[in-house]
Amino acid sequence: MKKILSKIVSVGLVFCMGMSLASCGKKKGMTVEKGKLIMATNAFFPPYEYYDNDVVVGIDAEIAGAVANKLGLELEIQDVEFDSIIAGVQNGKYDIGMAGMTVTEDRKKAVNFSSTYAIGVQVVIVKEGSEITDVDALLNGEYKVGVQQGTTGDLYMSSAPEKGGVGESRVVRFAKGNDAVLALSTGKVDAVVIDNEPAKSFVASNEGLTILPTAYVEEEYAMCINKDNSELLEKINQALKELTDDGTIPAIIEKYIPSNG
Ligand code: ARG
Repeated sequence: MKKILSKIVSVGLVFCMGMSLASCGKKKGMTVEKGKLIMATNAFFPPYEYYDNDVVVGIDAEIAGAVANKLGLELEIQDVEFDSIIAGVQNGKYDIGMAGMTVTEDRKKAVNFSSTYAIGVQVVIVKEGSEITDVDALLNGEYKVGVQQGTTGDLYMSSAPEKGGVGESRVVRFAKGNDAVLALSTGKVDAVVIDNEPAKSFVASNEGLTILPTAYVEEEYAMCINKDNSELLEKINQALKELTDDGTIPAIIEKYIPSNG
């Protein structure tokens, strides 16, 4: 009897292997863990994600919460390094990445993006009274530029001068955006390139810093989702549409970025 059973099991296994891993065992439901929507973020990016005591709050956290609610799932937020989010979504660790994340052609090769829910602008932060008064001065000088590792600010800045950057040798990378800002305050870098809303928040909470009036690049934010999970992508896009139409998403954004203030 035992022998027969083990035979059945091994035949089953071989069958499984033949049918590709995806169809046997691995793919149970629409999300990584049944009943949950696991979101990876990097929670030092106000007002999109930041800590209020030990809870991650912000625009992304609230929009993801509303989306999860619509899908009947419980939102779980994991705070990780920004440059590990896409890999984690790709290898099935997280259902979505949502981190003020810019849609880029390169990232689209690795993950799918939902519809866009916000616009971001890359800006330059300098010390008040800095001789860097516009983007051209930054690009043409010898200045050191601080960025958050793996962000679009990093990608643009570290590209060659002919391509609009300052080149590797002038870029200093930090794990968090606020570490880059701290390095600016203490004179370790001459400027920081980062998204405009976090920039405003960092400038407000650190004395002696200012944002250059000329913006660098405009971008779109979206959630990233595993390329094989088109079911989740469709459901999320549907939820985003409904939450935009019924005013939920505009209200969340207005709460964190008041349009007249
Ligand atoms: N928008 C930029 C990018 O996608 C920066 C995002 C950084 N986000 C964060 N939560 N730290 O590369």
